[in-house]
Amino acid sequence: MIYSKPEQDKNFLVNSTNYQQLHQQAFADPNAFWLEMAKRLEWIKFPTTSGNWQFQKPISIKWFEDGLLNVATNCVDRHAKATPEKTAILWVNDQGAKTVALSYSELLKEVNAMAHVLQCLGVQKGDRVIIYMPMILETAYAMLACARIGAIHSVVFGGFSPESLAGRIEDCGAKIVITANEGVRGGKTIPLKANVDTALLQTLQVKKVLVINGTTTSVPMVVDRDVVYEPDYSKTVDPVAMNAEDPLFILYTSGSTGKPKGVLHTSGGYLTYASLTQQWIFDCKEDDVYWCTADVGWITGHSYVIYGPLANGATTVMFEGVPNYPKPDRLWKIIDDLKVSIFYTAPTAIRSLMQAGDEWLQTTTRDSLRILGSVGEPINQEAWEWYYQKVGKTRCPIVDTWWQTETGGILITPLPGINNLKPSSATTPFFGIQPVLLNEQGQEVHEKAAEGRLALKASWPGQMRTVYGDHARFEETYFSQFPGYYFSGDGAKRDEDGDYWITGRVDDVLNVSGHRLGTAEIETAATHDHSIIETAVVGFPHAIKGEGIMVFAIPAGNTVHKEEELRSIIRGSIRSQIGPIANPDEIHIVKGLPKTRSGKIMRRILRCIARSEFEKIGDVSTLADPLIVEHIIEVVCAKA
Ligand code: WTA
Repeated sequence: MIYSKPEQDKNFLVNSTNYQQLHQQAFADPNAFWLEMAKRLEWIKFPTTSGNWQFQKPISIKWFEDGLLNVATNCVDRHAKATPEKTAILWVNDQGAKTVALSYSELLKEVNAMAHVLQCLGVQKGDRVIIYMPMILETAYAMLACARIGAIHSVVFGGFSPESLAGRIEDCGAKIVITANEGVRGGKTIPLKANVDTALLQTLQVKKVLVINGTTTSVPMVVDRDVVYEPDYSKTVDPVAMNAEDPLFILYTSGSTGKPKGVLHTSGGYLTYASLTQQWIFDCKEDDVYWCTADVGWITGHSYVIYGPLANGATTVMFEGVPNYPKPDRLWKIIDDLKVSIFYTAPTAIRSLMQAGDEWLQTTTRDSLRILGSVGEPINQEAWEWYYQKVGKTRCPIVDTWWQTETGGILITPLPGINNLKPSSATTPFFGIQPVLLNEQGQEVHEKAAEGRLALKASWPGQMRTVYGDHARFEETYFSQFPGYYFSGDGAKRDEDGDYWITGRVDDVLNVSGHRLGTAEIETAATHDHSIIETAVVGFPHAIKGEGIMVFAIPAGNTVHKEEELRSIIRGSIRSQIGPIANPDEIHIVKGLPKTRSGKIMRRILRCIARSEFEKIGDVSTLADPLIVEHIIEVVCAKA
């Protein structure tokens, strides 16, 4: 099925009149194109150079490297001057009872106040600041306040455990943590400050904790370390002039090996890319009310709740709650209430609301909507159709946007005024983006219709620059398997028309409800307790989450625990080491794992078992213990 693009294409920012020319410019001279695009920002000194990068070792990526700017000035001050009364952020609380419309001039006042408080706490340019917060306005102030004074923020999602938080604090060497007394989400409270206290028992790194009291609950404060946030409006903090390549933030993300990596994004290139893609892909104009439902703890929240829309002077919605609380009509009601015209969410949310039933759509019209977006995982056709037919009433193009924490912004997506829509296809690369499909030998597949590993052969301004503190890991992870390319870790198909269909990760990374989790990371967490000696983790298709987590665990020979107890020990370990987001869907206690004679776990076999694709297991005679496969199948089937 193909849905034709809307007829009135002239109304779109990118339309049939300007598309070809932009496409040509980006193709013929990417450096000139991107330098032109950088003009959308306000620079203290406009750059004379554009891209300066190489994908051969030593890998080096720089954009606009002699430019000077301040990211917060771009997102706040210039709009506070031009459109002071315009709403910058529309915040909706968890209960849905309260909405705050914050204008650009108010945003400036608040960001300035927090920047001043941070300065008084000794935070300087280049310092790392951990932000462990719920979706409240102060979180936006905190990010922008860091940007204003040149500090590097690292937002840690509130669903991560104290252990994960401590690991990130240590890795980036943060001196200060900004947190809230507690978070409220879906009617439940999250003890953020208590989690910080626990995390700080494990690291001496942090000297100050700035606590925002978002609710009336009071929390214990540590003398000389903890400070209650009181905005100080008395002083003006001048934005610090930053080089385009000065770091803006670090965001941790899971990979196929080891602990999470600190993805580092810099200032000028990132903001150019986030702002351009937000405006053109979502066709975001002056009067739009734009809502991306992501939490700011993820890259989508960085680029498409905060930096992209605010750099464009748009009105961005920030929602504290979750889609199905108190009822599954929650998002639709907010759309009607706030007259949201552009709505961007994740397939997992769409599937869960679809499952809740069409009746939850009936009390709302959603007539204000004009563009819909999807991100985070492949969107299945059924969910796409429901989103298109029922939520958007066939009036709104869906932009299915493929990108990653590492890419900073969207790379492959339809443009609403240009592409015909194919449910489940992310369709075409954005301007200047050069995807390729590689075969197992690392050669480009040139046929139009093909399948392979998705890689990029040229840089773009939003690309990550390094893994914080470990450039060798950056080179190893993304550039060593296929030298000369940035390898995404995803597989994709390309059809006869040249449109891309992302098929999902080809490495040991799971995508659970749109959140990336490394199997190695979960395995390490699951064996934290001595009663478990070894585990293997694989994903399996899950109706709502996209992918579910299945753990196979071998108990210690001398354990006195019963199976049910072992399961709860594993759950407890995963919760404490990573956080509730990695809670397994199924745990199977087994006697052994399928291993080669050299001891390597054959996850492929476990994946077949997890998917009940027993016929695909194939020959197991080369395993150290071929009989173990039958045993594991029995255990899994007995539980089913
Ligand atoms: C997956 C989220 C299919 C993909 C922005 C990628 C998608 C990973 C899509 C990055 C999409 C994201 N279609 N798959 N439209 N968008 N993905 O870093 O596997 O949290 O590698 O960034 O999500 O997840 P991350």
